[in-house]
Amino acid sequence: MSSSFDLSKPIAIGSDHAGFDYKVELIKWLNQKGLQVQDMGVYENKSVDYPDYAHPVATSVEKSESAFGILLCGTGNGVCMTANKHQNIRAAMCWESDVAKLVRQHNDANIICLPARFIALEFAKSLIEIFIETGFEGGRHARRVDKIACA
Ligand code: RB5
Repeated sequence: MSSSFDLSKPIAIGSDHAGFDYKVELIKWLNQKGLQVQDMGVYENKSVDYPDYAHPVATSVEKSESAFGILLCGTGNGVCMTANKHQNIRAAMCWESDVAKLVRQHNDANIICLPARFIALEFAKSLIEIFIETGFEGGRHARRVDKIACA
């Protein structure tokens, strides 16, 4: 699999209860592809608060301890809002193939956020594949990305 991410590092993944079943399946699938995954919870299907799992994934990506991040919750929005509070995190909601591609090409997204209650598991896998395989275009997009951070 070709990628501009450093896949010698693990992929950080986290979810709340709404994303738990998909997370289990995605970890198996990523491992079958030969990719290392660091599971940051939740570790059982019980009702939890999504920020408790989104923050560790964002911190891992922020510190370059992981290649990139995958976050799941019911709508994808709770984990996305949480992750984007971290400096240098560009967490992107993905629900369409072209969106998964464009958030890499134009926004250099480093966390993919998936709405587990609104997309099929196989489609989630295809979005992750697109996210991994698409590179940042740089140029005018780099100038815009450089303006995202608050001082
Ligand atoms: C949990 O019921 C749900 O609120 C959560 O998974 C997520 O959709 C929040 O953004």
